[in-house]
This record gives sequence, structure tokens and C-alpha cells, in this order.
Amino acid sequence: MNTPVPEYLADLLQNCKAAQGGKLADYIPELAAADPNKLAVALTTLDGLVYSAGDDDYEFTIQSISKAFVYAYVIEALGREAVLEKVGVEPSGEAFNEISLDQTSDQVKPKNPMINSGAITVHSMIPTTDNTDRAEIIRQFFSKLAGRELAFDMAIYQSEKDTAFRNLSIGYSLRNLNILESDPIEVVGSYVKQCSIKVSVKDLVNMIGVLVNGGVLPQTGERIFSHLTVRQVLTVMTTCGMYNAAGDWLAAVGIPAKSGVSGGIIGVLPGQVGLAVFAPKLDRYGNSVRGIDIMQQMSNDMGLHLL
Ligand code: DON
Repeated sequence: MNTPVPEYLADLLQNCKAAQGGKLADYIPELAAADPNKLAVALTTLDGLVYSAGDDDYEFTIQSISKAFVYAYVIEALGREAVLEKVGVEPSGEAFNEISLDQTSDQVKPKNPMINSGAITVHSMIPTTDNTDRAEIIRQFFSKLAGRELAFDMAIYQSEKDTAFRNLSIGYSLRNLNILESDPIEVVGSYVKQCSIKVSVKDLVNMIGVLVNGGVLPQTGERIFSHLTVRQVLTVMTTCGMYNAAGDWLAAVGIPAKSGVSGGIIGVLPGQVGLAVFAPKLDRYGNSVRGIDIMQQMSNDMGLHLL
């Protein structure tokens, strides 16, 4: 690849416009109003250099991409074993909003932390002092990783909270099984708020710098996660990050990844590169159609596939 990176990324966006199809997520009313033509890509190197193209300052809600970072945060706070007791690491093979409980072990638990049931449980485990808002703790944490103050999208938050019937039913089922130990309305509301934090693709690649770099934030040199935490998160991103399309993704793109229903996808190749894309139209698994196309192209062009 001899083209300079900025031109390469701009060309990539032009070429991916051929990837047609998909539709906007509409189960969150405010998301159905998104501009379907927005398109952005960003890339970070191991030492934290960032390149980007397209609508690279455009902010969208982080949605399920947050699940990977919150999983890491809670493992770091409570230890891997404590988290594994509550949430497994097996791919569910089902949609992200199925409850997908693992019934085979002694303790019934959500199959993995990338689906909603697992992520709601992980959110409930964020340690708080004197009832500090868990979503606010996460907003501050994401801001630190992004290197700037991030904000909630209050309209999307409210819109999802008002219609969170599916997540509430998951929350009540988890509460009934004692997997959730507190009020499902409060936990689901706070989880939805976590999903409403606004980021651009540039923020996302700044945030994944810490995963590319073995747990150390490239911008400051501060260790945020242990190697084991990073390994655990990248493992579940590899097997579960793209939900029931994880196998297709791994075969075609071949790097740990996580998608979100507003149209973002992050990809992390440890020790090498971090990628983020944004294009709002989704396939039937809830993954960005053009996002997958761009990631696949980058994986081919740069030889990123793990295998
Ligand atoms: O819980 C939900 O349904 C959303 N806040 C997040 C779902 C999501 O991003 C699924 N990913 N493709």
C-alpha cells in the first residue's frame, strides 16, 4: 500500500458507497431520524497517531460499542473471576436483544457481556460510592480514554428509555433470577444512558488506543487495564462482538470488533492498529452495512486478518 493514509481513507469512503442496502435502527424512535448518508472512518497506530476521513467529527451515540469498555472497566474494578461468575463468555448465536441465558453451569447467567442481558448485568456491577450515577462514572471514564469531555445525547437517551420495553423485560427476568441485585428500572435506565454517550470516529479510535496498546493509554502512558483484562475483552469481542454474525465477520475481516446500533464499528488489532467506522444503515444482525464493507477492505489492503 503506497498511497498516503489520508488519501487512502478518503478513497475507501468513495468506494464503499457501492455497498447498498440495510436500514436504520427504528426500535429507538430518535435513531430512525438519523441521516443515513453519514460516513466516516478513522485509524490509530500503536503510538496513538490518528488519521481520519469523511464525517469524522460527526457525533453519534456509542450504543453497544460501550459494552466492550464497560466490561473492561468492571473486570479491572472487581476482578475477572467475580465478573465471570455473573456473565459467561460463550457466543449466543442469537440476536443481541435475546436474553440468551447459559443454563448449563451451576449458576444461570447471560451467555456473554456483548449481548444486552450480559451488558445490563455488567452495568449493574459498576461499583458506586454514595449512589453516584453509574452512567456518569462511565461518561467520565470514556472522556478520559477519548482525551476530551464527552456528553450524553439526552434526546436519544429519553427516546430509548421511554420505549425500553424489551430491555426492561430482560431486566426483570434477570432480577427474578437474582442475577440483577437491584431495581431493573433503575439499572436499565442507567444502561441506556451509558449507550447514549456521544462520540465521533476520532473519539472511538482514541478510546481503543488503550486496547491496541495492551492496556496503556498511548496519549499519556498511563496504565488503565492489565494485560489480562485486555485479553479478556478482546476475546469476547472476537467471539461475540458482532453478535450472530461473528463467524462471518471473523472469516471476512478477522479482527476483534464491536458494533453499535447507531452504525459504528470498532476493530482492534493488538499491538498494531485500531479502526473505527460509522455509517448508520444496518444489516439484519444490527451491524453497519457500509461499516463492514470498509473494515473488510482495510483488512484486505493492510493484511490485518489474524489468520
Ligand atoms: O440496548 C440496546 O438495545 C441499545 N442501547 C444498544 C444495542 C446495540 O447497539 C446493538 N448493536 N448493534
